[in-house]
Amino acid sequence: MNEDKNMSNDRVIAVTGGTGTVGSELLRLLAARGAKVRALSRHPGKAPRLPGVEWVAGDLADKGSLGRLMSGAESFFLLTGNMDNMVPAQLNAIDAAKQAGVRRVVKLSALGASIHSKSVIGLWHYLVEQALERSGMAWTLLRPHAYLQNFLGQVEDIRQGRLPSAAGDGLVPFVDTRDIAAVAAEVLIRGGWEGKKLVLTGPAGRTHDEVAKVLSAELGYPVEHRRESEDEAWARLRKAGVPVWLAAGTLALYAYWRHGGATAKVSGVIEQITGRPPRSLEEFVRDHKQQFAR
Ligand SMILES: NC(=O)c1ccc[n+]([C@@H]2O[C@H](COP(=O)([O-])OP(=O)(O)OC[C@H]3O[C@@H](n4cnc5c(N)ncnc54)[C@H](OP(=O)(O)O)[C@@H]3O)[C@@H](O)[C@H]2O)c1
Repeated sequence: MNEDKNMSNDRVIAVTGGTGTVGSELLRLLAARGAKVRALSRHPGKAPRLPGVEWVAGDLADKGSLGRLMSGAESFFLLTGNMDNMVPAQLNAIDAAKQAGVRRVVKLSALGASIHSKSVIGLWHYLVEQALERSGMAWTLLRPHAYLQNFLGQVEDIRQGRLPSAAGDGLVPFVDTRDIAAVAAEVLIRGGWEGKKLVLTGPAGRTHDEVAKVLSAELGYPVEHRRESEDEAWARLRKAGVPVWLAAGTLALYAYWRHGGATAKVSGVIEQITGRPPRSLEEFVRDHKQQFAR
């Protein structure tokens, strides 16, 4: 049922990244509010079925495969994973949206997106942001800080009692991807944040020592922050198969965090837009206890 008075049921919202961490929660929220959604995946057969969500097959690397996604869409949510063809793939999506007459694009970018970013991810997001701003379509940029859900990617280490990082004592207001999705859903359904760059953070900056303490307290087994040098972090990431460009980007983020300043700042945007405070580190760990269980 459509619960939202501002939303017209026949306006299609096109979504990319809907099988991923942020996008799967976004689709759940849009479906719950009765939105009409068309979602792209390279493997739509494996995607979860939801009311009001039509899955279409396509690949952002192949512009010719995006026609069905965009056809008749009023709004478009743009997200891809971190991949070395992120810029051409996202530019294809922007071109296809414009050609199809899409009115509004909400792009999932990243905190610190800038031509000066020392992380290639920040630079790539910035280049796509610039293209979107020049496109003539209305736009909203979501610039989240580091995801709490990244710790799920370190579950093997955490279960063995260690949290390795070269973050030193840097304060990071990690953000829960469920809150990012909640902001995206509001912006897509209600509109009103056109031309805005929305910085999304959690409620407080936390050091990795604190993260390890919270993990220990909530999970019932000891977890220690293993402080790494840059060389040690590089070796760990490369051993885990992280590509050179992404490992270099991760070291750049560690350096920003150690340095502090803008990266430690908390923004109130999630509460302003969703009406509820962002989830804390403690809530995140409690909600994912089973995944972290030994
Ligand atoms: N992790 C962080 O701390 C952090 C912080 C700030 C910003 N970000 C940004 O967040 C984004 C990642 O979000 P996420 O973690 O939710 O993503 P994710 O879980 O890695 O999912 C990636 C999604 O992108 C889709 N995708 C990848 N390549 C595609 C292609 N060629 N064509 C069509 N779809 C494609 C995948 O769909 P299929 O596989 O179904 O095709 C999947 O749904 C990145 O842009 C990253 O820079 C991350």
